[in-house]
Amino acid sequence: MAIILIGFMGAGKTSVGKLLGKKTEKNFIDLDYEISKRLQMPISEFFVEYGEEKFREIEHELLLEYHQSSGVISTGGGCIETVACRELLKQQTQVIYLQAEFNTLWNRIIDDQLNIRPLAQSNESKDLKRIYQKRLEFYEDCAAHTIATDHLTTEDVVKQILQTID
Ligand code: S3P
Repeated sequence: MAIILIGFMGAGKTSVGKLLGKKTEKNFIDLDYEISKRLQMPISEFFVEYGEEKFREIEHELLLEYHQSSGVISTGGGCIETVACRELLKQQTQVIYLQAEFNTLWNRIIDDQLNIRPLAQSNESKDLKRIYQKRLEFYEDCAAHTIATDHLTTEDVVKQILQTID
């Protein structure tokens, strides 16, 4: 059964997912990476050209394809915006919510030079905070387990997940 990581941008889903994949000897699947492979373009370009709604449809298709794998799956932070994704996640028993306070996430997002995040680029801190607040209940609703990550290293988060799902 897949271990599925959810949480806002900057929650550490990708770094935690990679390490968790290694420790559990499971395949690591980064849904954002799979989406951009399928789209044959970076997600940021797709947002500009086709819009968020089309992106969400494809995100749902990919989650449907992968959720029954036995890998570790990191989802995009907005996956829980889609009702169908939420319904699917709620039926899974190993959905882990990587929770963090908004300020922690914001600092990680602005420090991250590698990932271009369309929603972080087109919104100021206060607008992004509004999106964060709106999404909180969705993350909580879909999570089988929650890990508070603010003061934890990637290694510590992985340790906690392993203790939680054992
Ligand atoms: C998004 C988060 C991104 C990516 C896309 C939209 C969002 O993933 O899927 O830019 O709506 O929060 P990360 O959470 O991995 O940054």
